[in-house]
Amino acid sequence: MNSRKLGRGVAVVGAGMSRFGAFPGMSSRDLFVEAFKEMRTSVDKGFDPKDIGAFYLGNFSGDLFEGQAHLAPILANWVGLSPIPAVRLEGACASSGVAFREGLMAVASGMYDMVLVGGVEKMTDLPISAVTDSLATAADVTYEVSAGFTFPGFYASMATAYMHAYGATPETFMRVGIKNHENGALNAKAQFGQRIPDVMESKKAAAIKKGRPVPTWENELAFLSDDRANPMIAWPMRLFDCSPVSDGGVALLLVSEELARQFTDNPIFVAGSGAASDGALHSRSTLSSIPSAKIASQQAYEMAGVSPQDIKLAEVHDCFTIAEIIATEDLGFFEAGKGWVAAEEGLTARNGLKPINVSGGLKSKGHPVGASGAGQIVEVWKQLRGQAGDRQLPNSPDLGLTHNVGGTGQTCVVNIFERR
Ligand code: COA
Repeated sequence: MNSRKLGRGVAVVGAGMSRFGAFPGMSSRDLFVEAFKEMRTSVDKGFDPKDIGAFYLGNFSGDLFEGQAHLAPILANWVGLSPIPAVRLEGACASSGVAFREGLMAVASGMYDMVLVGGVEKMTDLPISAVTDSLATAADVTYEVSAGFTFPGFYASMATAYMHAYGATPETFMRVGIKNHENGALNAKAQFGQRIPDVMESKKAAAIKKGRPVPTWENELAFLSDDRANPMIAWPMRLFDCSPVSDGGVALLLVSEELARQFTDNPIFVAGSGAASDGALHSRSTLSSIPSAKIASQQAYEMAGVSPQDIKLAEVHDCFTIAEIIATEDLGFFEAGKGWVAAEEGLTARNGLKPINVSGGLKSKGHPVGASGAGQIVEVWKQLRGQAGDRQLPNSPDLGLTHNVGGTGQTCVVNIFERR
């Protein structure tokens, strides 16, 4: 029972993403078309879109953000794929992680030889208060939102519990943000292309231009501790501890393993996949870990036949800086209570033992919620193929992991990818 094997192997042979950011005047359709076009050109030996058997789209809430539900058939039509089956999957911020798993299982089952997996979200048309309310529908509205919780509040509670349990400080979280902005500065698709020192310089330049007193922060931590420069959102999470509100789209092309080399000499295979669900945060016995992430990752490791130590890089769900630290523990990279120490010691930096979020993560690359999980896969795909440009990791990484969380962990999908 529940051996959780793929019926046949599956490879990702194409991957594309739009820029992530705030793009007034661009709709979900425009963002997805940008991603689809890049995905098409990324398939080394080309492919015929008529061979795509089905489309699985991750989208959290076109309904609330854009007033447009039922996006999958619309996008399929927009890129010329009608009348293939096109379905939207919703798993909050893990929507496209969920969509990827559906596409994976569809090919692994033998139902289709080639499928398209996408993710899209257009969040920035609404004022921030409406965005916050829309996102909050991913929590338990009856027992949590009614008590005043928003997502920064949830993760602030987790951060508080984590600090209390293990001794981390707000400075620890700042270091995660510094690292992810550093990484994002090497990513042309990232919403925030600035390192924290660059942000500091911009703020100083703006003060000079306006004839205001020029701030004298002595380093990044001083800047990030300044309430004016980095206001508190929900203690201890400040502005630079939060992922931003973003627009973005992603497209991935999956084929069966036996066909993969028809499309590229460099396919990336799915080595393992795991998924789990849970009750809302208020109903759990712990605030300092996400149980569904532990379960999903154990499934993925087991299917791949690898251990956390084998993973060369991981894109984890850093919707808030605390989430990255907890993820590195839930995934087994570090012991419970030691993730913050690893972050402080630089083990998760690009040149560290376990590079985490080399794309910039959701924090710096951006978090268009329904597209974020698929966006993580784009980064791992590029890194494993040696095509990540300035941020390419050395030593030809061969095994990468993605960790995509919906809500506070009611949904979690973990995938492991390998180059053979
Ligand atoms: N990190 C760093 N800087 C940010 C930022 C972020 N997350 N969000 C906005 N900024 C910057 C903007 O670039 C802008 O800079 P500027 O003044 O130099 O131009 C400034 O902060 C104000 O931007 P604005 O868009 O007005 O911010 P906001 O107050 O509307 O939104 C947050 C800030 C933190 C409330 C918003 O980003 C947020 O809600 N994030 C969390 C999203 C979330 O919960 N996602 C789901 C996770 S599960």
